[in-house]
Order: sequence, then C-alpha cells, then structure tokens
Amino acid sequence: MSDKNFIILNDPGKPKMTHQLIIAGNWKMNLLRDGSRKLISDLQKGYTFGSAMKVILIPPATLLGSIADQIRNSPFFLGAQNCHEERFGAFTGEVSAEMLADLGCTYVVLGHSERRTLFGETNNQIRARASSALDFGLTAIICVGESIEQRQAGLAMDTVSKQLEECVGSEANSNNCIIAYEPIWAIGTGKTAELQDIEEMHRHIRNVLIAKSATGNDIPILYGGSVKAENASNIFAVPQVGGALVGGASLNSQDFLEIIKAGQRND
Ligand code: PGA
Repeated sequence: MSDKNFIILNDPGKPKMTHQLIIAGNWKMNLLRDGSRKLISDLQKGYTFGSAMKVILIPPATLLGSIADQIRNSPFFLGAQNCHEERFGAFTGEVSAEMLADLGCTYVVLGHSERRTLFGETNNQIRARASSALDFGLTAIICVGESIEQRQAGLAMDTVSKQLEECVGSEANSNNCIIAYEPIWAIGTGKTAELQDIEEMHRHIRNVLIAKSATGNDIPILYGGSVKAENASNIFAVPQVGGALVGGASLNSQDFLEIIKAGQRND
C-alpha cells in the first residue's frame, strides 16, 4: 500500500492513521429516474474493488429515495448535495439533514462553490448546516476553494483558511467531516490545478485542521475540479489527497469506474 494516498501523516514519514480512498460522484442537477437506474446498474456491474475504496453517490434530491433502494447491499454510499440548517418548519423548497438521514443518506455536501456563488450561501450557514448534519449522523463534505482572481492575487491560502475557520467546527473529526478542496476555476472547466498547487493547498488545509481540532490529522481531504480518468492517478498520488469529488465524470459509468480504478492502482 502506498503511503501517499492512504496514510495521513503527522509529519512526513510518520504514518498516523490509514483511510480508504474516498471517491464521491456529485451528479449536480442531472439525470432522471431511468438514466439514474442505468448508471447505477452499470456501476454495480463494473465495480470489482471490494472495500479498498469508499464510493459515495451524490444525486439530486429527487433520486435519493430510489437510489437508496437500488444500492442496498452494494458497496456504494449515498449522499445529498445540500441540506438546510433547521430540522423542520416553514422553509419552502428546503430539505433537512434529518430528512436525508431518513432516506438513507450518510453524507451531505455543504458549501459547494455553486451554492456559494449562485445561491449566496455563507460560511455561517454552512457551519450551521454541518452542525445539523452531525446531529442526524451524516458526514458533512465541506467544500472550500478559491476563485481565479483570489489565486492570481496570492489570496488562495487565506481564502481557504477563512472558509475552514468559519465552516468547520471544533467537533469535526474523521467520522463526521470530510473537506473537499475545489478551486473554483477548475470546476467543470477541464482545467485541473497543478499537482504542486494541489499538494501545497492540501498541506495547508491539513495544518489548519490540526490547529483547529484534536483529530484534525485524521479528517480526509479530497481534491475536486475536472478530475478525470486520465489525471486521477496522478492526483491520488499527491501527499495528503484522500480521494476526489468528481462532477462531470461521475455521470458516465465507464469514466467513473476508471477513476475508481486509478485509486486502486496506488493501493
Ligand atoms: P467537475 O465538478 O468534476 O465537473 O469539475 C467537480 C465538482 O463540482 O464537485
């Protein structure tokens, strides 16, 4: 087993704790029931990786119930793309963490850059949502990442530090929290961040998490932003990268299976 992907380091060379590589497929607002059934059935047929990897499917809310049934007794986990911070009430159009848990979800993505930029979600809201997710036993996949303007101005690290400071509570640990680093300019653009930049930012995130939480060393950090079959194994080999949050390529079973397989090659 390579120490690059699976071992979170206390300091270089000192294995602290092992993790499965996590591959999460964010379908965003795509697919209807027929397409979803077929995609999952193709993934189930092609999945030969046992428990070496943790694969999380993150479909739109309309498909969560039927997918929960379809993936019962399979190696896949179910996640939602967002939740509201309140448990119930007059919040038309919203879905609570408790409702997601009731459907069989065990993960929820929070603070995706599309939620932040298109729907105005704030760090405070994301933190409140993560806290509600925790209350109902969901693991929050908290997304952070800088814009191209912030990177060009040398503000990438500060931006991500602030997001982590304000979105991640001290209660975060490896059982209830995953961080996804997604530079906004790499999402859906085909432009992946340079491996060196990914490494630098993942190390930075690790340091912030260690300073923040007693178990900060164990919280998985995923990379997201134009992850594809062709670049996945290089990304998975970057120190501190604990997996990937995959958008576009998760909608095609062959591409998604290739990404999963790339994770296994480093095993
Ligand atoms: P992408 O999306 O893989 O299509 O770039 C990633 C994401 O938004 O999570």
